Amino acid sequence: MPLVSMRQLLDEAAKGGYGVGAFNVNNMEQIQAIMEAARETKSPVIVQASRGARSYSQDRFLYHLMLAATELYPEIPTVLHLDHGNSVDTCKSAIAMGFTSVMMDGSLMPDGKTPSTFEYNVKTTREVVEMAHAKGITVEGEIGCLGGIEDGHGAGLDGLSHLTDPDQAVEFVRQTGVDALAIAIGTSHGAYKFTKKPTGETLKMDRLIEIHRRLPRTHLVMHGSSSVPKDLQDIINQYGGKLKPTWGVPIEEIQLGIKNGVRKINVDTDNRLAITGAIRKVFAEKPEEFDPRSYLKPARDAMKKVVAVRMTQFGQAGHAGDYAPIPLADMARRYEGRGMPVVSSE
Ligand code: G3H
Ligand code: 13P
Ligand code: ZN
Repeated sequence: MPLVSMRQLLDEAAKGGYGVGAFNVNNMEQIQAIMEAARETKSPVIVQASRGARSYSQDRFLYHLMLAATELYPEIPTVLHLDHGNSVDTCKSAIAMGFTSVMMDGSLMPDGKTPSTFEYNVKTTREVVEMAHAKGITVEGEIGCLGGIEDGHGAGLDGLSHLTDPDQAVEFVRQTGVDALAIAIGTSHGAYKFTKKPTGETLKMDRLIEIHRRLPRTHLVMHGSSSVPKDLQDIINQYGGKLKPTWGVPIEEIQLGIKNGVRKINVDTDNRLAITGAIRKVFAEKPEEFDPRSYLKPARDAMKKVVAVRMTQFGQAGHAGDYAPIPLADMARRYEGRGMPVVSSE
């Protein structure tokens, strides 16, 4: 099947009461790992590429690899999503390339660091919504700012400095018409999210629940949702790495989010850890090896394992065959009639 819109996947997830992982990719092995995990668990998938990934892969390479994925895994509904688009132009070029979903992250200025004004965020996001919906493409917006900056996204804050204000979230959705909304509830990008095991109070789940109560028909997105498992950290450190002790987002908190309107869960760091650990292990145990396949294959397998586990934990497993893809032109027509009804999880 062709690449599908993210809106359809998230509407179906709302109907079924589950979440869908959005996994970042930069190369062929990462795409293969996700598609194999999707086949094994029978999951619909969101594959996402950041600006950094687009520039690393020259963008067309990534796009054609994704077309290969749709040919080789025709039974898997697959979305190609732009992660953290920093401007209208970035979103425009992704749409021109064939992405079926874009994130306009107007919570930050185009530098990806400086928190923007509400007015700037509404204006840029609205512009992207108009352009994207005319082609049936999905739009994710963000209100509030995530912490951390190590991956080049985020305001460099502690994750709690710019939490999403529920009133602003309601107003933002009303004024922009976004399909999905990323909210800041205390997570941050990268491996160093928390310095001790987070308790139920560390993440502002009450805020998430309040936003869902006020916006029951908007698909919520959790960024910075890697769990940073200790076993993956240990493998890296065992084979010469130097990670400092750190904690990520507990799976139970993500599952609580899914019960309260979270439909898209962004995961990149866990896969980076799995890949790096597997490569370090081969380098340490078989220093005579120099065929890249000797370490890229275990790296791909390690990522596949993490993705398959997340797909099961998020509940998307088993849902790949639930629905037929809606062509993008049909999606565009539905938007024309003032947005199609979002299937509420309630
Ligand atoms: O949001 C951040 C993702 O982990 C992507 O990171 O910009 O280094 O590709 P990146
Ligand atoms: P992690 O760094 O927690 O994997 O988050 C990734 C992300 O939010 C991508 O947008
Ligand atoms: Zn993010």
